[in-house]
Amino acid sequence: MPQPKPTSIDLAVIGGSGLYNFPGLQHAERHTVDTPYGAASGDIVVGDFAGKRVAFLARHGESHNLPPHRVNYRANLWALHKLGAQRVIGVNAVGGIRADMGPRVIVVPDQVIDYTHGRYTSFCDADGAEVKHIDFSEPYTESLRRDVLAAAGRANVAVINGGCYGATQGPRLETRAEIARMKRDGCDLVGMTGMPEAALARELELAYACLALVANFAAGCGDEAEISIEEIFAHLAAATANVPPIIEALLK
Ligand code: HPA
Repeated sequence: MPQPKPTSIDLAVIGGSGLYNFPGLQHAERHTVDTPYGAASGDIVVGDFAGKRVAFLARHGESHNLPPHRVNYRANLWALHKLGAQRVIGVNAVGGIRADMGPRVIVVPDQVIDYTHGRYTSFCDADGAEVKHIDFSEPYTESLRRDVLAAAGRANVAVINGGCYGATQGPRLETRAEIARMKRDGCDLVGMTGMPEAALARELELAYACLALVANFAAGCGDEAEISIEEIFAHLAAATANVPPIIEALLK
């Protein structure tokens, strides 16, 4: 398979649960990118959107075949970087912990706590790789976060500015006790895919921000005794409809 040359990509979008292709992407070409870390979640689809070049990658695969702990985060970020992306928006389904972060709310978080384990968290994990320490005090690129917030405003989509994303291992949802602990730790949201993606983006010096789509109240935070997976996907579908307008405004 011939390897792609870096192209000018204005923005890359990594779609999470419920976002497996990017609606409105025109003249799309598919790129299968080889990486030193193995295969990415799938082809990267590059096309025109709002007059700009947008790259799209479905984090879980286009048929949602990869659970969060088996996503090859390193290959995904490397492939986007190799194609020439410099700015990445990670779209992530989350559970809401904070009372104002209920289903269908969109949050642009500003902090992360990582509870995942057993994932490759750094490009330094490879044999012979140079050891590189990154500053991660602010895990998201503040200028991109601000641009996303402003774009949401122009697109008339309500979003919450800031919040702490707690990244759990999945694929199961959490217990009430785990969520109670995360709340005490200061988490406002819980999701399974925010890390190590954000840290790997920083290692590659990519600008990275997260659009967190709330699918449900996290365990013990809502009225229901159980969380319905069907309802999660229904809320996600509704929240996901707001992503293209935000991205369109971001590109203008
Ligand atoms: N927990 C973890 N990840 C999630 C949740 C949740 O409640 N909802 C959507 N993604």
